Amino acid sequence: MKNLIAANWKMNPNSQKEAKEIFFAIVGPASGWDGVEVVICPPNIYLPVLKNIAMSDVALKLGAQNIYFEDKGAFTGEISVAMLTDLGVEYVIIGHSERRKYFGETDETVNKKIKMALASGLKIIFCVGETAGERDAGKKNEVLERQLKIGLLDIENLKLKIENLAIAYEPVWAIGTGNNCSVEETSASIKIIKEKLALSEVEGQVRVLYGGSVKSENSGAYIKEAGVNGLLVGGASLNAEEFVKIVKSAE
Ligand code: 13P
Repeated sequence: MKNLIAANWKMNPNSQKEAKEIFFAIVGPASGWDGVEVVICPPNIYLPVLKNIAMSDVALKLGAQNIYFEDKGAFTGEISVAMLTDLGVEYVIIGHSERRKYFGETDETVNKKIKMALASGLKIIFCVGETAGERDAGKKNEVLERQLKIGLLDIENLKLKIENLAIAYEPVWAIGTGNNCSVEETSASIKIIKEKLALSEVEGQVRVLYGGSVKSENSGAYIKEAGVNGLLVGGASLNAEEFVKIVKSAE
C-alpha cells in the first residue's frame, strides 16, 4: 500500500484563477511521484476545471469534501456520488469534524455516506478524532471507538472493496491551531484505531492517516515514527511549495 497524502482545501481559495495556480504548481512535480498517492480535494465547483488539467500520466487524483447519502432527488444543495464518479473524481472525505460541528453531521449520517460511497466505488477518507474537551476528560478512546463503531457499522458484511477505505485521525484541537498532535500521542491513537479495525477484520487493508496542523517540518516524523500510512493536510496544502515538500517527506 502506498502512503496517501490528501489535500483538504476546505472553502478555499476564493477564485478559479487561484485554484488553477495552486493546482498547476503541484501538477509539475507530481510527474515524479511513484511511491505515494496524492489526492487534491478542492471545493466541488473547481472539480471540473481541475479534472481537465489533471493529466492521465500524472499520479494526482481528485476528491470531494462531502457527499449526500441518497443517490438522487429533491435534496437542494447536495452532491451525489454519481455526479462525482461521472466526472472521474476518485475520492471523498467523509465525517470531517467541521461538518460534524457546523453542519450537524452525526456518526449515523457518516455511516450512511460511507456505505453509499463504498457501494459506488468511490474511495473514502473517513475522519475521526476527539475534541479538546473530550481529550481533557479522558474520553479519547471512547470517542474514537464510538466514531469507528457507528461509522463503519455493517461495512464488513458488505461485499465492498474495503481497501477503498482510509481512516484519518484528526484530533479536533490540532486542526488549524498550529498545535499538532505529538508523534507519541498520534502513535497511541493510531494503535487504538488499528485495534478497532482488527476487531472488524479489516485491519491491514485500510490506511490510517494523521491530520491536524501538518507542515513540512513535522510531516516526515509522522510517516517515519507514528505508524501512519499518510496525511490529511489542510492549511499547508494551499501553499503548493509547502505541500510538495510534505509529499516528498512521505515518498
Ligand atoms: P490543518 O492542516 O489546517 O490543521 O487542517 C487539517 C484538516 O482539517 C484536514 O482535513
